[in-house]
Amino acid sequence: MIGFLVRLIGIFVVALVSLSAPLVLAVDDAWQDESTCVTCHEAEIDEALAISVPEWRESIHAEYLVSCDACHGGDPRLEDADESMSEEAGFLDNPSWTEMADYCGVCHEAIAESFTAGRFGSAILEGVRVATCATCHMRDGHRIVASIPAEIVTSEICPGCPSVADPDRCVGFLREVRAADETLVANIDVVEAKGIDLTDLRGAAREIHEAFARTVHAFDDAAIDAARAQAAGGYEALGDRVALLDHEADSRRRFGAGMIAALTLLFVALLATLRKLR
Ligand code: HEC
Ligand code: HEC
Ligand code: HEC
Ligand code: HEC
Repeated sequence: MIGFLVRLIGIFVVALVSLSAPLVLAVDDAWQDESTCVTCHEAEIDEALAISVPEWRESIHAEYLVSCDACHGGDPRLEDADESMSEEAGFLDNPSWTEMADYCGVCHEAIAESFTAGRFGSAILEGVRVATCATCHMRDGHRIVASIPAEIVTSEICPGCPSVADPDRCVGFLREVRAADETLVANIDVVEAKGIDLTDLRGAAREIHEAFARTVHAFDDAAIDAARAQAAGGYEALGDRVALLDHEADSRRRFGAGMIAALTLLFVALLATLRKLR
């Protein structure tokens, strides 16, 4: 009877999971197509305006549900172009290069602050045309994906920039910090696979990464050098803690295996003694 019940519950759970999986996916896609910005611009005959939608669909912003209106404003529920993109609906003009940091900074606050307070921000105040968020991150239009330094920091984007006179050097140390981050995260994965929870160390690693990315956007050599040293030290210290926990996990495992072996031996010996006594 109990076996039958268990099997029944099992079938029910499997049915529920297989039914709900496609359901969840369907809902995921639907939110995009409920926005009139998306549907109208996708159907737009003018190629220049239609192109942003497929680009955006592949972006990290679409993945995190940051839709057209989150950046551009406007009302994504209205069918009519003029109403949907009206001033009353809060539609914004495309940002000029001087406004870009504030535009993206609505969400990327710390990075935008660092950018504005840094060398590029000062240059903008003096009217010097520098690279802004879109110059570096929107070269493929709306397809903003993971920021790969080697794809961003090039002599093409930074012509005549004294700091980036040697893009290879810049990319070299960005890659170095990134590699330290990736190694640490991979080691955390290994230890967690052994059943130890390292959520706090993962959070600490994330903080180091974010602090470094923030400082990068000041585009100031001295600040970046200091941040790079600090990140390296931080990753090393965390790495030591992960290695220690890994060692402990292994020792505990070995101890457990040793105990089982000892108990088995004891049991066999006991059995043999009992048999002899009989
Ligand atoms: C019914 C169709 C339609 C809807 C709905 C619509 N748009 Fe547009 N959009 C257009 C057309 C056509 C243009 C180009 C002509 C113009 O600027 O009015 C345009 C232009 C734009 C531009 C370029 C403006 C510029 O100055 O270069 C942006 C950005 C934009 N739309 C974003 C949005 C956003 C965000 C929404 C939703 C809140 C939206 N659109 C809703 C059809 C639409
Ligand atoms: C992360 C913020 C962000 C999101 C999300 C976003 N846009 Fe944009 N969009 C911009 C910026 C910034 C520009 C100006 C780019 C520049 O000046 O180089 C722009 C430019 C445009 C333009 C002008 C033509 C072009 O391609 O440069 C259109 C049209 C447009 N966006 C429509 C859309 C639509 C439709 C969506 C949703 C599918 C969308 N955008 C999502 C930030 C965004
Ligand atoms: C409405 C909020 C919002 C706005 C406005 C916005 N973003 Fe984002 N952006 C996000 C979210 C959410 C993520 C994904 C989580 C994260 O990485 O922080 C993200 C991720 C990113 C990434 C990270 C890619 C990586 O390396 O992981 C870049 C680069 C980026 N955005 C650039 C921009 C630029 C440039 C603008 C302005 C044109 C902009 N964003 C405007 C919300 C926004
Ligand atoms: C000169 C080019 C350049 C400019 C201008 C620039 N960025 Fe970046 N951005 C980068 C590089 C390079 C990285 C990758 C840094 C790294 O690997 O740590 C990056 C990384 C990022 C990330 C990902 C951070 C993370 O946690 O991984 C975000 C978000 C971002 N930038 C947003 C912005 C915003 C917003 C602006 C404008 C205020 C901006 N960027 C201006 C080059 C630039």
